Amino acid sequence: MVTKNIFEILLDKFTPWLKFSPELVHEKQVYLLHLLCLLDEASNNAWQQWDAFSWKQLNFPNRIGIAGGVDKTGANINNWWQLGAGFVEVGTITPKYQQPNPGKIIARDQKNLSLWNKMGFPHPGFEESLWNLEKRLSEKQTPILVNIGKNRWTPNEKAQEDYQFLIHELHSYADIFVVNISSPNTQGLRDLFKKQNFKPFIKSIYQTSKEYKKPILLKLSPDENEESFDLIVDLSLEVGFDGFILTNTTTQRTSELSFPTDGGVSGKFLAPFSKLALQRIVKHLGTEKKNKLIINAGGVFNYEDYLERRQLGADLVQLYSGIVFNGPYIFKKIAREHFLKYN
Ligand SMILES: Cc1cc2nc3c(=O)[nH]c(=O)nc-3n(C[C@H](O)[C@H](O)[C@H](O)COP(=O)(O)O)c2cc1C
Repeated sequence: MVTKNIFEILLDKFTPWLKFSPELVHEKQVYLLHLLCLLDEASNNAWQQWDAFSWKQLNFPNRIGIAGGVDKTGANINNWWQLGAGFVEVGTITPKYQQPNPGKIIARDQKNLSLWNKMGFPHPGFEESLWNLEKRLSEKQTPILVNIGKNRWTPNEKAQEDYQFLIHELHSYADIFVVNISSPNTQGLRDLFKKQNFKPFIKSIYQTSKEYKKPILLKLSPDENEESFDLIVDLSLEVGFDGFILTNTTTQRTSELSFPTDGGVSGKFLAPFSKLALQRIVKHLGTEKKNKLIINAGGVFNYEDYLERRQLGADLVQLYSGIVFNGPYIFKKIAREHFLKYN
């Protein structure tokens, strides 16, 4: 039985992180998580093991993990394990240090359970992630996905060099690579999906990943029309990609949201777009799905949402907004629902 301890009860009651600006929480998140896990050291993760899954000799103790951007450098990998994540995605990692985009970069809409961000891959540079990943190698509890991106000043014609460089540098620590060209916050990045750019770009990256025999996934945008979505999927399969993460944040808006018009939205608002993309890919892949990995992210907040995504065909599910609105014990809360249902 997964009982609530005092830390979970207090966080549920006071949701202290929602009382501060999202910028401040984001800035201090690494330390806050370390502190929580230190205080809650008695929290055992026996409940981490449920609905386990294996893929290409990788063993996932459960099918819920953190999405790209939650742990950009890999500073909290062991904390996510302690909190019950079934896998961890680190990144988006860029080759060199870069600042976030100027101005406001993150906002919360509590009423609509949605987030807005315009971060643009802030990262201290790959060395820091390499160091963090290396530190966790000997105590590994789950598969680690490494999400890679380009520095904003690298032109699209040379983008593959950034991705290939990161695969060369990080292959010893990645169980799976994730190619991120679907962020709306790096100018021109999504142009790499355009027909004339796409195939040569992904082919070269795929070849590099296979030098190290690493599975490689493509993270998709929810904003492609059906025709280009299908083409992107078909070309990725033709090249040999091992699966997809869907989706990244959306640039779509309705009047219910008060967010700026640039940047990307995630959370509840994204859920219908993410589910549509999931249904579309499952239908499109048909029998070709076989051994391809499908990971779904976008507005998953509880066990019910998780089950729905699994039923729609997701092998694995990821959380970002769910952690922000429901707190770091969300993995435990979902496991608890599972155990209540089956025990
Ligand atoms: C503040 C913020 C930063 C993000 N940074 C990244 C990132 O660096 N790389 C990435 O692939 N996705 C990033 N994402 C997108 C998430 O990984 C995820 O695809 C999206 O938020 C949908 O999931 P959610 O509805 O559970 O938040 C970010 C999302 C947010 C809200």
